[in-house]
Amino acid sequence: MTEFKDKVAFITGGASGVGLGQAHRLAERGCRVVIADFNRRHLDEAEEYFRARALPVHTIRLDVTDREGFAAAADEVERLYGHTPDIIVLTAGVNVFGPAEASTYGDYDWVMGVCLGGVINGLVTFVPRMIRRAAGGFVAATVSFGAFGAGPITAPYAAAKAAALNLMESYYMALKPYGIGVCALCPANVRTNIYQAALDRPEKYGASGYNVNEGTQRAVEQVNAAGMDPLVLADKLIEAMQDGRFLVVPYEHGARMVELAYARFPLYCTPEGMQKLAEKKAAPMTEEEKMLFDERENGGTFTPEMMASGFGKAAADVDWVPEAKRAKR
Ligand SMILES: NC(=O)c1ccc[n+]([C@@H]2O[C@H](COP(=O)([O-])OP(=O)(O)OC[C@H]3O[C@@H](n4cnc5c(N)ncnc54)[C@H](O)[C@@H]3O)[C@@H](O)[C@H]2O)c1
Repeated sequence: MTEFKDKVAFITGGASGVGLGQAHRLAERGCRVVIADFNRRHLDEAEEYFRARALPVHTIRLDVTDREGFAAAADEVERLYGHTPDIIVLTAGVNVFGPAEASTYGDYDWVMGVCLGGVINGLVTFVPRMIRRAAGGFVAATVSFGAFGAGPITAPYAAAKAAALNLMESYYMALKPYGIGVCALCPANVRTNIYQAALDRPEKYGASGYNVNEGTQRAVEQVNAAGMDPLVLADKLIEAMQDGRFLVVPYEHGARMVELAYARFPLYCTPEGMQKLAEKKAAPMTEEEKMLFDERENGGTFTPEMMASGFGKAAADVDWVPEAKRAKR
């Protein structure tokens, strides 16, 4: 996709962080931008942000886990602009961290419901409408560099993102004949408000198995504060839309990062490989790994003081987890 003027762009999670940056850059290029977001406060702030810049956007309150709400939002866009969007950007996402073995159903239902379910719902809502319209278009999802890895405290998030990446790849293959481009955006650290999500988690998901409080989320905020500017990230997405690239790992050495992240899989297949993985885990990072880590995280690392907040621990009452991995009561 090379022409953006007057195209209708629908962005989930567009009222904050990564999605706000995408809305800004697409609106600047002349797109008629629709921001769909769950958080009323973020929507109000986004409306003010775009008014101040004289960039018109239309906002819709939408919970991406609500399929009927998605259909109603799609109908609203068609009524407003006369056709379904040309560009869909599925960015809404949340995260929360803690020991995998402490996870509750609520942790999975919330994180996977928004980060994976929100992408599925966006695809099932809009792809048939785009195909029927027969005018091509573009579908992007904001995934994460976390899609390439797994970790003892990232289970729901990493699983949702790995699945979302795989899903987008399938759609990339399937939608080519319709002239619909597809891409997956996989940033690491970005300067956004995502630290706030776990504090605003809807009550319907029940208790988390993880230790989450103002202190742990301040630590996440500090790490993200060092991250990439969402506007810079949005420029990388637009470049990929223009050159038809499927995968955006928005760093100079992005391809090498992916290669190294996936190198673990063949090693898991044999006892010798498992031995190599164990040795690697015990060894310090190589110079190259350090360089790539710095490029991705931009200095955003958890310091011992931040870890003292109890970030990454289980909730105090998760009694099947050893005490050292639990928050203090
Ligand atoms: N911040 C990072 O370091 C980082 C890194 C990699 C990937 N990401 C991904 O970027 C995406 C955007 O996150 P962000 O960092 O900009 O966070 P953010 O909190 O600043 O923005 C996310 C937006 O999504 C909205 N949202 C949350 N739940 C929703 C729901 N159920 N329905 C509709 N909207 C909902 C929030 O209200 C918010 O406005 C997420 O998918 C996240 O996983 C972020």
